[in-house]
Amino acid sequence: MSVLPIVQFPNPILSTVCTPVTEITDEIRTLASDMAQTMYEAPGVGLAAPQVGHAIRLIVLDVSENKDNLITLINPEIIATSDEWVCGEEGCLSLPGIWEKVDRHAQVTVKYTDLDGKSQTVEADGLLSVCLQHEMDHLDGKVFVDHLSRLKYDRACAKLKKRRLQEKHRN
Ligand code: NI
Repeated sequence: MSVLPIVQFPNPILSTVCTPVTEITDEIRTLASDMAQTMYEAPGVGLAAPQVGHAIRLIVLDVSENKDNLITLINPEIIATSDEWVCGEEGCLSLPGIWEKVDRHAQVTVKYTDLDGKSQTVEADGLLSVCLQHEMDHLDGKVFVDHLSRLKYDRACAKLKKRRLQEKHRN
């Protein structure tokens, strides 16, 4: 297993619509395990394949407190959503230091293929639901700041730029 470099916004791969995984090869299994290690190391609660440079429909998640409930989703699809919405602060490993409120469905039902090639369904609420929606957005070339108003989007980008300049200065 290895920790992979995380692609930073606004790298064009983060706005690419990812292609489905057609076969679960050893490469896919290795990538999924490297993504999990990268996510835990960061640390984060979710990571999508485009964030490590692969434009394919694969995500890893672990929202558990003890970091012992890894879920790997291949070709995930939202098949049902609640009418109820929630609004909470989100961040992203590709936009470090940026936290903004985003509206999400309170509950989602997601169908996906697991690493053994089996079809699975997860009914999610709370953090898992929000995290699934955030990560699945990445597969459609969307980052969480794309949900913001123009004004807030510009403000987030300016903050990110400033933060990077400060970091460069420090190094
Ligand atoms: Ni993200």
